[in-house]
Amino acid sequence: MDIATTPTNPEGNPELADAARTPHEPPVILREDYRPFGWLVPEVRLDFDLGLTRTRVRAELTVQRNARADHADTIRLNGDGLKPLSVTVDGAAADWRMDGDDLIVPLREDAHLIAVETEIDPTANTQLMGLYASGGMLCTQCEAEGFRRITFFPDRPDVLSVYTVRMHGPKAVFPILLCNGNRVAEGDNDDGTHWAEWNDPWPKPSYLFALVAGDLVANSKPFVTCSGREVECNIWVRKEDLARTDHALESLHRSMQWDEEVFGREYDLDLYNIVAVSDFNMGAMENKGLNVFNTKYVLADPDTATDADFDAVEGVIAHEYFHNWSGNRVTCRDWFQLSLKEGFTVLRDQLFSQDMRGEAVKRIEDVRILRAAQFPEDAGPLAHPIRPDSYREISNFYTATVYNKGAEVIRMMRSMAGVERFRAGTDLYFDRHDGEAATCEDFVRAIEDGAGLDLAQFRLWYSQAGTPRVSVSQKVEGDSLELTLRQTVPATPGQPDKQPMPIPLRVAVHSRAAAALGAEQLVVLAEAERTFTLPLSGPDPVVSINRGFTAPVVIERALDREDLVFLAAHDDDPFARSEALQELAVGHLVGTASGTLSADQQAAGEAAIIGAFRSSLADAALDDAMRGELMMLPSETYLFEAMATGERKADPGAIHAAREGLKAAIGSALADELGALHARASAVPLDDPAGRGARKVKTQALVYLAAADPGRTAKLAAQQYDAADNMTDRQGALMVLCGLDCPERDERLAAFHARYKDNALVVDKWFTLQALSLHPDVIAQVRALAEHPDFTMRNPNRVRSLYMAFAGNPQGFHDASGEGYRMIADVILALDPINPQTAARFVPSLGRWRRIEPARAALMKGELERIMAAGKLSRDTFEQVSRSLE
Ligand code: ARG
Ligand code: ZN
Repeated sequence: MDIATTPTNPEGNPELADAARTPHEPPVILREDYRPFGWLVPEVRLDFDLGLTRTRVRAELTVQRNARADHADTIRLNGDGLKPLSVTVDGAAADWRMDGDDLIVPLREDAHLIAVETEIDPTANTQLMGLYASGGMLCTQCEAEGFRRITFFPDRPDVLSVYTVRMHGPKAVFPILLCNGNRVAEGDNDDGTHWAEWNDPWPKPSYLFALVAGDLVANSKPFVTCSGREVECNIWVRKEDLARTDHALESLHRSMQWDEEVFGREYDLDLYNIVAVSDFNMGAMENKGLNVFNTKYVLADPDTATDADFDAVEGVIAHEYFHNWSGNRVTCRDWFQLSLKEGFTVLRDQLFSQDMRGEAVKRIEDVRILRAAQFPEDAGPLAHPIRPDSYREISNFYTATVYNKGAEVIRMMRSMAGVERFRAGTDLYFDRHDGEAATCEDFVRAIEDGAGLDLAQFRLWYSQAGTPRVSVSQKVEGDSLELTLRQTVPATPGQPDKQPMPIPLRVAVHSRAAAALGAEQLVVLAEAERTFTLPLSGPDPVVSINRGFTAPVVIERALDREDLVFLAAHDDDPFARSEALQELAVGHLVGTASGTLSADQQAAGEAAIIGAFRSSLADAALDDAMRGELMMLPSETYLFEAMATGERKADPGAIHAAREGLKAAIGSALADELGALHARASAVPLDDPAGRGARKVKTQALVYLAAADPGRTAKLAAQQYDAADNMTDRQGALMVLCGLDCPERDERLAAFHARYKDNALVVDKWFTLQALSLHPDVIAQVRALAEHPDFTMRNPNRVRSLYMAFAGNPQGFHDASGEGYRMIADVILALDPINPQTAARFVPSLGRWRRIEPARAALMKGELERIMAAGKLSRDTFEQVSRSLE
């Protein structure tokens, strides 16, 4: 719907009256419109008079005409909801004007000093962008465009300045005053206030500015860098959280060490501060020298955090630390280049976690996330290239595509170059662009030059959206195998026609009859179709392809069930083993859900999967961490993708039934083995190095047993809950109980809440477990939870813990009544005026309607139309809803 061009005739036409309530369609920003800014701002001085409901900001900007930009006799300083209280140029009152939210100041000479005063109310800032209050403290979030909510400024990443910041406020309320860089002075006043002055010597864009003021304590430990400098590392939290910060601090040290060893990057300040806040839109933020984190990615101890939570803390701490080079020292020229820092930094944090915890399991996890979050995005109305061409609201582009596919694209370059040559490429990149605001093109050119690759055609990965599909066929010719690969890149919004892209695939040709494993090699499919000749390792060749998931593509092939079973049991690439099992399960489940299998095929498929499960349960050579991966069935979201191909639509009800049916079949056929596994795993103590894997398979065993025999499993799960000495076991048991209709469920849920009612992150888990549950009454339960005294729409973690979880619960969300859809649409409408960024994140779940069967699709689309008709939408939500309806 095109609101701006709708003729306005509000009287008598309710639809138009509604539409007219969105006064202006937010403008589209185009990548090709980039121009350098007319002014440089080498120095910024900020003075904050801090208060929770009233903060005064005085900003002094030293500006100089930019010789590399068009001549300008005004400067545009971006604002968002600000009023200038005073504006001077070189000390004299200026002749300023407003253009929308921006401040326009005339400037005659080549250099000036502009001073602007503004006042803000941090407590009223429910968007959590700019300066806001959280639990009695003040903190900031400026990426992408939050700095303009603090003061008027050229709020774009290619304007780099050295910041000096003075803060002043009541000492009792804000005993700790933090900012970027180093503290250079501080002092107390007689009136109970105090002040501090900070200086960050590294020029940075405004989105990396941060300020924190509050009653905080630190867990500190110095890190000595490779050149022998001592860096003070602090994790700042509220006093009651201090005991849960050791893991974050250790993770920071490990990240610092790893980046020196693996990427040759040393930290460049003497201080590294991390602050945990409980109200935060995203995971964390890499502000120079002062990261601000969601508490979820800082606090962890075994009693309150699962093993997965520990991993997430380690990964996000590493991610933000790695940004110090990939993001801060080299930043982005404009927001279209976001994947320059995000894709690269995600790859860096993935490689780090692989080194910390084992490559195979981490890779399987990362691919699972890509398939669950990015593949659907790439196949839907919100598909965009990793370097988008346009946006209305940049916050909507912090996506799985920019982050995770962006990482995959750089990983492909690394696979083609090899680790050492890739390192030469990244060294050259950091060297060449240190201190600059760079582009994706700069990155690709540095890898080309440094690694010696030709990436001319590879650049298409930056401009083309959509997940390529590679179909595979094979023919034996003498003693070699002719492997024919064909690629297609599907049409996506605005991109009907695609060109073939270079797709690097690690392949090996095994022999089932000879039980022989072939050697691995890398082939690059750069054409629409090409035949590769590969050596045979024996008769009955079985191709193992995209080993280690070298390319983010869908492989289309029809392998025999026996071949998949062979790969699942024998492939020497652990990723390929898990992949074969997934392929086996996807084929069976999609076939079952579409009703295309005969009774015989049905039985044979089920038997093959049960057999493969039995082998992995019995395989003594596997560790439990890997066994746990092999025991995981493909997610329902991924099955939707696999079912919705060509003209066929996904049927959520049929997929859910098929998947639950398979779980029950596995649980009953392997009841003894799973029971034995549960018993064995339960005997492994908490601090045993094998404990993590044991905890993973322990709950997995319960999941299958529960599907087969709910009554007996309720008892076993309750036992696991009661015996638990850690959150992983406790949460796992409660998750299983939540899906069952039994007295143990309500008792343990109540006990869990009573035990943890003062711990917000664990109360979030309590909401999530119920919102995600397989319980038949989940919709009614979620409605009731929204009325619980602990629920609030003001805290993003809490909103996500209930509603994001529910939107990811295929059974509840896709309930045939449409009630799940209505509930999420209501959330979007209620949240949009409070926190548009978080509200807009709920839209993609409804946006998938085109790939869903017609009855549900109509209901989903109807909800999107209802949101659109409500009018007065934020830029964020308007953009996502309108794209979803196009
Ligand atoms: N740069 C941050 C990170 O990758 C994410 C910040 C996004 N913030 C936002 N408001 N969109 O860790
Ligand atoms: Zn990031």
